[in-house]
Amino acid sequence: MLRIELFVILAVVISVNSFNIPFIEDVTLIAVSTSNSSIVNNLTCEECLCKALIYYSALNCFSNSTCQLFSTIPLTYRIQSTPGARLYFSQQTLPNVNQCCMPDLDFLLSKLRNATPIYVSIPNPRCLALDNHGYVVAIERSPAYIDRFNATNLTLISRTSIPISAQIWSLAFNNNAYYIGTDSNTIVVVDSNNLTMINTITSIYINNPRDIMFLDNGQTMVIASFGNNALLFFKQLDSTPGNYSYAYQKAVTHYPNPHGLWYVNDTFFYATVWYNNAVLSYTANSSDSTSWTETVTINAESIGSTAGGSHVIIDECGRSWFVLEQNGIEIYDTVGNLIGNFSLKTSYFFHLLITDNYVLYLTDTLTGHAMKIDPNIKC
Ligand SMILES: *[C@@H]1O[C@H](CO)[C@@H](O)[C@H](O)[C@H]1NC(C)=O
Ligand SMILES: *[C@@H]1O[C@H](CO)[C@@H](O)[C@H](O)[C@H]1NC(C)=O
Ligand SMILES: *[C@@H]1O[C@H](CO)[C@@H](O)[C@H](O)[C@H]1NC(C)=O
Ligand SMILES: *[C@@H]1O[C@H](CO)[C@@H](O)[C@H](O)[C@H]1NC(C)=O
Ligand SMILES: *[C@@H]1O[C@H](CO)[C@@H](O)[C@H](O)[C@H]1NC(C)=O
Ligand SMILES: *[C@@H]1O[C@H](CO)[C@@H](O)[C@H](O)[C@H]1NC(C)=O
Ligand SMILES: *[C@@H]1O[C@H](CO)[C@@H](O)[C@H](O)[C@H]1NC(C)=O
Ligand SMILES: *[C@@H]1O[C@H](CO)[C@@H](O)[C@H](O)[C@H]1NC(C)=O
Ligand SMILES: *[C@@H]1O[C@H](CO)[C@@H](O)[C@H](O)[C@H]1NC(C)=O
Ligand SMILES: *[C@@H]1O[C@H](CO)[C@@H](O)[C@H](O)[C@H]1NC(C)=O
Repeated sequence: MLRIELFVILAVVISVNSFNIPFIEDVTLIAVSTSNSSIVNNLTCEECLCKALIYYSALNCFSNSTCQLFSTIPLTYRIQSTPGARLYFSQQTLPNVNQCCMPDLDFLLSKLRNATPIYVSIPNPRCLALDNHGYVVAIERSPAYIDRFNATNLTLISRTSIPISAQIWSLAFNNNAYYIGTDSNTIVVVDSNNLTMINTITSIYINNPRDIMFLDNGQTMVIASFGNNALLFFKQLDSTPGNYSYAYQKAVTHYPNPHGLWYVNDTFFYATVWYNNAVLSYTANSSDSTSWTETVTINAESIGSTAGGSHVIIDECGRSWFVLEQNGIEIYDTVGNLIGNFSLKTSYFFHLLITDNYVLYLTDTLTGHAMKIDPNIKC
């Protein structure tokens, strides 16, 4: 996370009262913890500022004459690069150093262990995703189905057969479409609004696609190609959903069989490997290059003899939640020390989503379920 103190803070003078309002060019404030903000349209930055001076602590001023006004600066926030935008601190006070919501992992884990999960049955579940409707989306491996659930209580919204004979292995959501990796070595693209198959992405390089991820606002699609130990990079050809073609690949060198992907930013992401239970990170040498440097960040081989490094997720405190199927979820701090774990006796966790207030959604491949675990905390 970026620290606000590192920025050069400039001052702008509002003519009315000669207030000095600090602002930062080309960034916006993104709330991570719950916050109260409102959007106003069709006002210039100066007009927004006049509105903001008394009642609001910060405002994002976008280049399209839209402003977002924050009554208070959220406890946990991100500063995001947004060319053309400005972030103003309208009450002349800069925010406190960003603080994460749940620094006490033991407290969080005890709340999760004491929570009562909500279960829903899914035959052969695999990955989960959240979509544009706010649904929790799951896939059934074989026969292939897309299942969508209400995120509040996991009521089934729809269960749709995918008209292919292949098994399906992975799921990602991007821009109103579900991307589904199949064992015919294709990526099937399904519209998330009308549930029709709109495209099939093929390439001779796809070999057992175990996860799919997007960079550069969807302009790049990355596939963890399990069978040939590679990360495949595809370029978006035009805005037609699912119109991607193969561009280049990066061999996975420290361990074979890449599996789960986790996006951090356009020049940094993580991949898990299945058999060796490790997490690798990838850093772009420069933001527009096609060269990535691989580093081992977590090695969990000692946790258990069984494979299953399925996915990794980074939480808002920077901790890694490494989902190890039969070995539960192992949690590591920012420098790779094991600091906790979470498991349920009768579950093999496969995929994890962490949403606001540490509400977890999980798939369980042992009993064929998805579940929601709400620790009942407020960020
Ligand atoms: C959110 O902000 C609005 C306008 O500033 C205010 O009226 C409202 O009470 C605030 N709500 C909360 C929950 O703070
Ligand atoms: C935006 O503001 C301008 C000037 O105040 C006005 O002429 C225009 O109609 C407004 N547009 C919308 C969409 O409200
Ligand atoms: C203006 O841009 C912001 C940020 O990209 C976006 O969230 C907002 O919807 C846009 N507003 C309009 C009126 O286009
Ligand atoms: C999900 O369920 C909750 C509670 O049962 C309900 O209030 C909400 O409207 C539902 N959401 C959707 C998107 O169906
Ligand atoms: C979930 O909420 C819906 C109403 O939105 C209700 O009909 C259903 O019984 C609830 N399911 C569970 C498991 O509580
Ligand atoms: C579904 O939506 C897509 C746009 O993503 C459109 O091209 C297609 O015709 C729609 N199909 C149906 C059956 O409505
Ligand atoms: C994908 O994009 C290319 C380049 O714009 C275009 O020629 C092609 O027709 C598009 N394919 C589909 C399926 O829309
Ligand atoms: C991307 O994330 C990495 C790892 O957290 C960080 O070192 C890097 O500065 C970030 N890059 C950008 C452009 O935010
Ligand atoms: C990328 O960076 C790594 C580590 O600094 C270096 O070994 C490698 O040669 C670089 N690759 C390119 C193509 O610049
Ligand atoms: C999991 O955490 C418990 C404490 O909650 C600890 O006793 C146990 O050794 C840990 N197991 C692993 C595999 O880290």
